[in-house]
Amino acid sequence: MAKRVAIVLAAGVSSRMNTRLAKVLHEVCGRPMLAYVFDACREVGVDKIYAVVGYGAEQVKDRFADSNDIVWVQQDEQKGTAHAVLCCRKHLKDFDGETLVLCGDGPLIRDKTLKTLIGKHEAGQSAATLATAVLDDPAGYGRIIRDTYGNIQGILEDSDCTDEQLAIKEVNPSYYLFNNKVLFEVLEKVKPDNAKKEYYLTDALSLIIATGHKVEAITAVLPEEAMGVNSRAQLSEASKIMQRRIQRQLLENGVTIVDPDNTWIDARAQIGQDTVVEPFTYIHGEVRIGRGCRIGPFAYLRSGTVLEDDVVLGVFTEVKNSVLGQGVRARHHSYIGDAAVGENVNVGAGSITANFDGEKVSRTSVGDNCYIGSGAILIAPLELKGGSHIKPGAVVSQDSIGKK
Ligand code: UD1
Ligand code: CA
Repeated sequence: MAKRVAIVLAAGVSSRMNTRLAKVLHEVCGRPMLAYVFDACREVGVDKIYAVVGYGAEQVKDRFADSNDIVWVQQDEQKGTAHAVLCCRKHLKDFDGETLVLCGDGPLIRDKTLKTLIGKHEAGQSAATLATAVLDDPAGYGRIIRDTYGNIQGILEDSDCTDEQLAIKEVNPSYYLFNNKVLFEVLEKVKPDNAKKEYYLTDALSLIIATGHKVEAITAVLPEEAMGVNSRAQLSEASKIMQRRIQRQLLENGVTIVDPDNTWIDARAQIGQDTVVEPFTYIHGEVRIGRGCRIGPFAYLRSGTVLEDDVVLGVFTEVKNSVLGQGVRARHHSYIGDAAVGENVNVGAGSITANFDGEKVSRTSVGDNCYIGSGAILIAPLELKGGSHIKPGAVVSQDSIGKK
């Protein structure tokens, strides 16, 4: 297998997003866009990921502080995508292998497409291979220029196209695989002679062709994965596409989603077989739901929630950072936060954990088979023994039930 690294471009200032946050940290279904691009690189196998950062670099590095396969490369001034790749020169100039170059603002990338790209590149022994997409509305993307035989000649940015070229529907989603040495040789020759006066990575391709090396383009990218997120409108569009993918996977895993359009499930959530998710359910963050549960309608599950099998959560029930044992039922209007709830506990309508006293958050523990009557308030820190029976409307503190 060829040696392979990835360069991910994530330094750009995003004026179109109108944001103070680094663009690549904006979230799509609960995860920063950049996380999806890193994952796609890992799926196809790379030795290292060189992430080029600039605008908001510290925020970006902090967010991925746990990843040890990333080399952060600083681009102080954002002079264009070719300049961004050149910033990796000191690390990669002598690397004899394949270099995948991707943009951090393309979260919809799929590893399946990258595998097709790699397969084509290696079979064709090309100096560069890119994967293209055909879009009904190609506005804003670089257009693929081919000769009359269909051979690729280069890529032209929207702002440099003639009206005729603007009509080309085959675009550049920015998925490239290069022979590393050829890439760094031609990058030195890229000039900022375009409408935006930037150093364009797309120019590297025509330069490679001009030096007599082979460049191939394959139309392997689905329209829905071609999108680069440059605006808030595209961010919400990308989230919608990602949400559909997440739900499709869950449906295949045997989860029923009654109304997919009115359900939102985080990319990090796991849901077991034969669980039914009713409409207007919002699952956010790291949430794990077992088998045979019934969630919603109008349920809100937040980070750190673990539901064992056969749990029933009904209307306007919110759970945060809590583990609910098998068979727990909280059918109406409850809040369970920072709690460990044993098996078969009945949480009556409107009962809540009071987990925050204005200064600190405390935990509640409820043993197996407890009955919590409607409207009860469990004041944390609290430990209820298994089998406890709490009357409706009770205000329960550790003092009121005696010390542990
Ligand atoms: C780029 C491509 C375009 C393609 C589109 C796909 C170029 C010149 N154009 O355009 O052909 O259709 O992506 O989405 O490459 N970046 C840096 N440093 C810089 C400039 C950009 O790291 O100096 C990063 C950005 O953070 C971003 C990526 O490179 O993640 C692409 O830059 P962006 O400005 O979004 O390029 P597009 O105009 O979308
Ligand atoms: Ca972009």
